[in-house]
Parts: sequence; C-alpha cells; structure tokens
Amino acid sequence: MTTHVRLGVNVLASGRHDAAWKTLPDAATLSTDIDAFTRIARVAERGRIDALFLADGPGGLVEESHTRPWRALDPVTLLAALSQSTDHIGLVATTSTIFGHPYTVARQIASLDHISKGRAAWNIITSQTPVALAAYGLDHGFSQEDRYQRAREFAEIVTGLWDSVPQEAVVADAARNVFVDPARLRPIDVRGRHFTAKGALSATVPPQGRPVIFQAGQSEDSKAFGAAYADALFTGQRTLAGGQKFFADVKALARANGRDPSQLLVMPGLFPILGGTEAEALKRKAELDEGLDIAFLHGELARHFGLDPDDLPLDEVLPFDRIDAAESGVPIASRWPRAQILSEARPRGWTARQAALSNIIGGHRMVVGTPDKVADDILHWVDTGAADGFNLNIDVQTSGLEDIVDHLIPILQARGRFRRDYEGTTLRDHLGLDHFQAGATRGHLSVPLQPALRTGTGD
Ligand SMILES: Cc1cc2nc3c(=O)[nH]c(=O)nc-3n(C[C@H](O)[C@H](O)[C@H](O)COP(=O)(O)O)c2cc1C
Repeated sequence: MTTHVRLGVNVLASGRHDAAWKTLPDAATLSTDIDAFTRIARVAERGRIDALFLADGPGGLVEESHTRPWRALDPVTLLAALSQSTDHIGLVATTSTIFGHPYTVARQIASLDHISKGRAAWNIITSQTPVALAAYGLDHGFSQEDRYQRAREFAEIVTGLWDSVPQEAVVADAARNVFVDPARLRPIDVRGRHFTAKGALSATVPPQGRPVIFQAGQSEDSKAFGAAYADALFTGQRTLAGGQKFFADVKALARANGRDPSQLLVMPGLFPILGGTEAEALKRKAELDEGLDIAFLHGELARHFGLDPDDLPLDEVLPFDRIDAAESGVPIASRWPRAQILSEARPRGWTARQAALSNIIGGHRMVVGTPDKVADDILHWVDTGAADGFNLNIDVQTSGLEDIVDHLIPILQARGRFRRDYEGTTLRDHLGLDHFQAGATRGHLSVPLQPALRTGTGD
C-alpha cells in the first residue's frame, strides 16, 4: 500500500533563505507580526499541510541573527494565537529540556492542545548554545550524558503530568458539593537527578490523550532518546544514504523498544526552491543568492570546520583532509552543520563557494527545480526508506509557500500520495498516530527510568 506523505512547514516569517528578508518591504517588523504568521498559516492550511513547525532558539537571538530576522515570538504563545485563525493544521512548538521546568512545559503544551482542540505537539530539543546558557544565567552547559538524562526526566514528568487529571476525575457533582474526585487523580511523584515534580497538572488530560511529541537531534544519544519518547523525529539529512541509515536505525530502535515503527515518523528538513522550469528555479535561487553576504557565509563555513577562511579558498575544492584533521577543535554547536555540509560536499567535490551557498545556516538539503522534480525527490525518499515525510523550509514567505501549495501539492495529490482534505481533526489524525487513551501514557514509555527515579506514582 502506498502511504501518504507527511508534510510540515518550518515557519520563519520572512522565509528560510538568508536573503529573503531583503526582498520584503516590511522585514523589520515581520517576525513579531501576528498577521504575517496568520497569512502563512492560512496558506499552509489551504494546502492541507499536516503541521506548522516552530523551531526556537531559547534565550534570545542566535549568533548569526545580526544578518537576518530570527525567531522572535515565543512558539507556544504564537501557536495559541494561530489556533484561533485555523481549523485543522497541527501546531508544533519547540521547547528545550535544558532550560526551565517540565511542569511549565507540560502546562503550556496541554493548554495549547485544549485551546486548539487536539492539534498541539511538543518538539523536544536538547541544545545549549552559549547565548541561551548566558541568558539563563548558566556559566556552563551539561555533558552529553547529562543532557539526555535531563531530557528523559523532563519527558517523564511532562508525559506523566499530561496523564494526571483524567476527565472522569472532574465529577462536578453539585448535590454532593464535589467538583474533583481526588481518588481518580493520577498524581506523579518523580525525583530525578535533575528535576523533581509531585502532584497533578492544572488541566485535564489533553484532547489528543497525549499531544504529539516531536524531537530534533542527530547523535546516537538523541536517536535512542527519540526512539523511546517521540512520535516523530525532525532530522537533517542531506544524502539519501544518510537518510536511509537514520531511518533504519531509529525504526530498529523503536522495534527494540517494543514499539510499532510506523508510530515513529521520520521527517527530515527539505528546502525546495521551485520554478516553472529548471532554469526558472535556478534563476530564483541565483537572484536570492545575490543578496547573501558571501564573506560572512565563508566565515561561518570556516567556523563550522574549525579552520580559518584563508584555509578554504572560495573557488577551490574543499580541502577535505585538512577539514578532517581539524575535527576535534570544532565547537559543539557546529557538529551538526559540519556533518551535514560534509555529507553532501564530499561526494560532490564541492568548492567552498558551493558549500557556502548551500543553506549552511538553516542546514537542510536544498532541491532546486520544477514541482515535478521536487515531488519525485520527495517520493523517492519516502519509497526507498529514508523518510515518512518532510519538514519544508520555505525560501520566501509567502510566495514560496504559495508555489508549494499551488504547484507541488497538486502533483502529490494527483499521484495519490497526499491528502485532498484533512481526514480528521487532530494532529494525531493527520500524522496517522494512534490516539492515546488516558492512563496509557506510562505504559507506553518503553525505556524505564532508573528504579530510584519514580517513586509512588499514581499507577
Ligand atoms: C533537525 C534539527 C532541528 C533542530 N532544531 C533546533 C532548534 O529549533 N533550536 C535549537 O536550539 N536546537 C535545535 N536543534 C539542536 C538539537 O536540539 C541538539 O542540540 C543538537 O542536535 C545536538 O545534540 P545531539 O548531538 O545530541 O544531536 C536541532 C537539531 C536538529 C538535528
């Protein structure tokens, strides 16, 4: 049976291309303009897209933000507003397990699920950029092991809290003057190395039973964590072979955890630039690229490789031996972009200029061409076991999204590979994920915490 492709839209108000903002008259205010986000949400919903995906850089602007608009608004707040101007599309909010407390996140995402009537998702990230650490008053980050231990404790508490107030507990019995029956609550009592939480959430079990959990990461620890806790993985894969390996690895991990692998979706990022003909698409990219600051991108490329820009002459093939030799000096935040860029640059023998112009800030794979070419690419990845769908990066908002909705989606629909209308009302419905029964959450978690961690829960 051929399956439908899952498609999210990775939302940035101006678009993903780093020079998109230079083509937009209102760029200075777009990132805080609810009307701009509403326009994007409505076009995406017209295209029957599964979900709007809001990445986030906790703690403020990231280092490169002085060259382009960045993510300004708090994702949960923004998505709650967008839920009121849309009816179907899913709403994915990114929050980190490094900063803040899980009770806050459990409450925020449960609230979003109630407010949107079952369209919320939590995208778990574990990043700890220096900017974010500084903003939260931390003078150092956590070790890799601690980052994922923290993430596990965080996810245990969040999912336990989502499950802690079954609707049946709210008896609203006026005659007996009993509103909530405490005996029917399922309070948690989690004591971890990083987080402790006791009690029940303020809100009843969310409409989806459990809001969808996305997770974004790349390392082996990240895969193991995602295969235990997530419903969908957002990943960056620039080559088909790399995508197939990631897909096979995480599906195997899900299976090893006793999970149905079809219930763990893999959605790499994809950055299409469309044109009516191949030449038109290349022209669109070339015109946008004219707005890029090549010296800045050259510097970023060198930084990701732990080298000096002088080591990477722009129009010479990248010095792969030298790049490999410098690997140990690469900053942590550059590990993912470095691996991404090299996976594509090495087999293609790219020059530094080609690499610098390949979306090194956003990171995701670019496909430049006609809607037919991009549709073929998407289906090839899905049909050869590299993806269940994609998180689409839009070159310029909203023209790029309109091109996708008006020209790419109809091709996928005509091939019977994308919905013509939403099948249901919740994000779980759109993604083909099972509905969670209240009370089932804990049974689902397949990687138990250390025995000492969870004590006396309401199981
Ligand atoms: C596809 C993808 C998307 C990510 N999105 C974000 C994001 O929105 N904000 C953020 O701070 N970190 C983001 N990250 C970073 C991850 O949360 C994590 O810090 C990074 O992958 C390094 O951890 P790892 O080596 O264990 O994978 C993303 C990573 C990937 C692979």
